[in-house]
Amino acid sequence: MTENEQQLAHSWATNAGAWTQAVRDGAIESRRLATDAAIVEAVAARGAGRALDVGCGEGWLARALAERGFEVVGVDGSPPLIAGAQALGGATFHVLSYEDILAAPAKLGSPYDAIICNFSLLGEAITPLLAALRASLTSGGRLYVQTVHPFAAGGDAPYRDGWRTETFDSFGGAFPTPMPWYFRTVGAWLAALRDAGLIVDECLEPTHPATGHPLSLLLISRASLP
Ligand SMILES: C[S@@+](CC[C@H](N)C(=O)[O-])C[C@H]1O[C@@H](n2cnc3c(N)ncnc32)[C@H](O)[C@@H]1O
Repeated sequence: MTENEQQLAHSWATNAGAWTQAVRDGAIESRRLATDAAIVEAVAARGAGRALDVGCGEGWLARALAERGFEVVGVDGSPPLIAGAQALGGATFHVLSYEDILAAPAKLGSPYDAIICNFSLLGEAITPLLAALRASLTSGGRLYVQTVHPFAAGGDAPYRDGWRTETFDSFGGAFPTPMPWYFRTVGAWLAALRDAGLIVDECLEPTHPATGHPLSLLLISRASLP
């Protein structure tokens, strides 16, 4: 793991309490206004089945999909977030980091009809993980990746791939540790999926209902390789 990736993992251990409260209190406006509904509706639109929530955090999406009839497994590298997810239940939750998945993909279990990465691909080298997830899809399965829209996340920085820092200042609550995260352009997202043997079927861009500005990029893919 690089230094940024170690700090990223550390941030999700120490920020778990503040994050859980922010999510469960509906403190993140973009989620409340558009992106939560967008991911639930996109996955549910193809009908219920087995779903894997990768980087599930405190488990809200796994629970929402279970309520829609999915059999859901949620995995995350942060033990306190998984403990919080297990405390509310509603799905099966395991501590499993992306590095664990790459080392032993069989730990993911039987193939899934839907694999979802909801704002959870935050590191630089995501192609190997995407390839491992592709191999865990059923033949008609889909991979759903939702990320902060690159046009909204850019700020004043140049529009190019690179590490940035999230301070969580706009989320309210006391987040003790800033989080390094890797910004990628729309083109870089598409290239990462292609290099992992995935074809994008659909690209959704949920917007802010008042401003019309893009909030997230939601890419729905299927395997192009076996
Ligand atoms: C922004 S949160 C999103 C959580 C959840 N998907 C949601 O929608 O609320 C990012 C999540 O990705 C997880 N994550 C990031 N890097 C990870 C890694 N290398 N292995 C496992 N989980 C990771 C974090 O622990 C955290 O729960």
